[in-house]
Amino acid sequence: MSNLASDYLKLSYHCQQFGCYSRRLRLQNVLCVLESCVSLYILSLPLFDIHSQLLRKSNLQSLVVQWIRSSEHVAGLCKLLNQNSRTLTSLEFVHCKISSSFMDTICGSLCSSGAETHQIHHFSISSSSFHEIDPVSLAHSLASFLSSGRSLRSLKLCDNNLDRNFAKSVFSTLLDSSCGLTSFDLSENNISGWLSIFNWKSNAFLSSSGVTKSLQSLRILKLGGNNLQKDDAGNLRYVLVQMPSLEILDLSDNPIEDDGIRSLIPYFAEASKSCSPLTDLNLGSCELSSDGVILLLDVLSTLARPLNSLSLADNGLGSQVAEALGKFWGTSIQVLNLEGIGLGPSGFRKLRDIRMENLKLVKLNISKNRGGIETAKFLSKLILHAPKLVAVNAAYNLMPAESLPLICSALKTAKGGYTIFFKFKCTV
Ligand SMILES: *[C@@H]1O[C@H](CO)[C@@H](O)[C@H](O)[C@H]1NC(C)=O
Ligand SMILES: *[C@@H]1O[C@H](CO)[C@@H](O)[C@H](O)[C@H]1NC(C)=O
Repeated sequence: MSNLASDYLKLSYHCQQFGCYSRRLRLQNVLCVLESCVSLYILSLPLFDIHSQLLRKSNLQSLVVQWIRSSEHVAGLCKLLNQNSRTLTSLEFVHCKISSSFMDTICGSLCSSGAETHQIHHFSISSSSFHEIDPVSLAHSLASFLSSGRSLRSLKLCDNNLDRNFAKSVFSTLLDSSCGLTSFDLSENNISGWLSIFNWKSNAFLSSSGVTKSLQSLRILKLGGNNLQKDDAGNLRYVLVQMPSLEILDLSDNPIEDDGIRSLIPYFAEASKSCSPLTDLNLGSCELSSDGVILLLDVLSTLARPLNSLSLADNGLGSQVAEALGKFWGTSIQVLNLEGIGLGPSGFRKLRDIRMENLKLVKLNISKNRGGIETAKFLSKLILHAPKLVAVNAAYNLMPAESLPLICSALKTAKGGYTIFFKFKCTV
């Protein structure tokens, strides 16, 4: 109840005492509401004034800011950025309203004492809106931010309702920049057609020196939920071959269909020859059918360095895909997501009949396949032949009560010399 105790309850006390030790900071307007009891409407300038006073001596490395929506917010933020521009390497914006002057100001305050470049390694804008009368100038501002960052390794522009022209512009900047980007996330926008201006087949875009550096170092590419169609997949094929370091590719939730997958197959075949490090492929909800997926699995089964993780979830594949799947899991696949692919009882029956020998599977998702008792029969065989298996999700398979003894007895038998941590989720 002393004065001191009430000081402890204030954020400002802690900032004054410990601000100089802070390395990571997440700022939300609500903090300021609690602290200074001002209304949400006017709070953000005081918020940043408070923090830039309190954190004067800090050496922040990572900053996440939310709800920056007016020029006053930006001005307050810039003080903080400027104070920490020497140490700050990670900067994230969430729920912000971005304009070209916003980008220019941010960039200006990060380039410390007249230097033309900033030190940011990880830059992210997500769930934000891009507001500008002139979208070209906005894209230009972002581009100039990107090209003034030699240290940029990870770029995330996720769920901002970006269109194809914006994506084109960002992508051309990356092609021209000499940064060694390792991760690029453009998920949850609407960029169908973004690669169509580039003349991929002629390789013309690769002719000037250094242009592919940013693609060559790329290890993670996320393009999920972008309304990409088969033509986009066709263009993507030419881009992907320029990414020899790619390990993780996420194309989920794009209607690329079988034609899209057919145009990507030459990339996988080529990747196989050149020992590509690709380990993780997500093709969930891509409107694929068994025709496309059977072709794909045949190629993936022959990769020199097989995948670690594959998702085919929520594509209507049906039981026809079982044989190709059986061949594929003889590779060293560890994480397989087959949720909602329409296997049904006959799919599980076929899977069970396929030869299984010392499978490397670690996690399997076979939920939502309505397999009934056949799911349990399949599982009881799989458990015996996949000694590394630790997690199976078999929810929503309409399994009858008789399933349980089948699975239990398989688990008991399998235990043998192994310690099995089995997380079993099932709706009976
Ligand atoms: C996505 O972009 C296309 C044009 O490229 C447009 O016609 C369509 O309305 C957009 N969809 C959404 C949900 O914004
Ligand atoms: C597996 O299936 C469940 C639905 O039953 C889903 O919620 C979960 O995200 C899936 N797991 C993975 C790794 O995708």
